[in-house]
Amino acid sequence: MYDFKIAAADTTTMYRDLASALEGLIAGETDSIANMANASALIFETLPDVNWVGFYRNVGGELVLGPFQGRPACIRMTFDQGVCGAAAKSGQIQRVEDVHVFPGHIACDSASNSEIVVPLIRDGKLIGVLDIDSPKKARFTEEDEVGVVNLGKILSRVV
Ligand code: SME
Repeated sequence: MYDFKIAAADTTTMYRDLASALEGLIAGETDSIANMANASALIFETLPDVNWVGFYRNVGGELVLGPFQGRPACIRMTFDQGVCGAAAKSGQIQRVEDVHVFPGHIACDSASNSEIVVPLIRDGKLIGVLDIDSPKKARFTEEDEVGVVNLGKILSRVV
C-alpha cells in the first residue's frame, strides 16, 4: 500500500512533494500503463478541486484515452480537437481559465470549468498529454503551471 500524505502549506512546496512522491512511485518501473495509472491516482488524490486527471496517448497521430481518474471520458481526439489537441499540436502547455470559451473544447464532464494540459515529449516526439480538469473557473495558476510542467518532465521519461 502506498500512503502519500501531501499537506504542504503552499503550492510550490506541494508540487515539490508531489514530484518527489511521483518519482518514488515510478522508480524502477518501466511499464507505461502502470506508471500512468499510478500517476493519475496520485495527482487526483493530491490536488485540491480537480475532477479529472488522466492521459491521452499519441497513437498514430490521434489522441487515445489512457489511464485516468474521474468520470468516463471521450476516447479519441484529433490534434485539432479540444484543449488536449491544442497541447499535442503546439507542443506547449495549455492553461485554460474557462473551457467554455475555448474554441473546440470537448466537454466530457459538464462539471469541468478550467483545465491544464501538458504535452509529454521524449526525444522530440509527442508521447501523449497529461490532462487535469477542475470544476472551478481559473483553478490553475502560474504556480500550478510550473508544477505541472515539472510533473510532465518526470512523466515523459516513463510513459
Ligand atoms: N476537455 C478535454 C477533453 C478531455 S476531457 O476533459 C477528459 C479537451 O477539450 O481537451
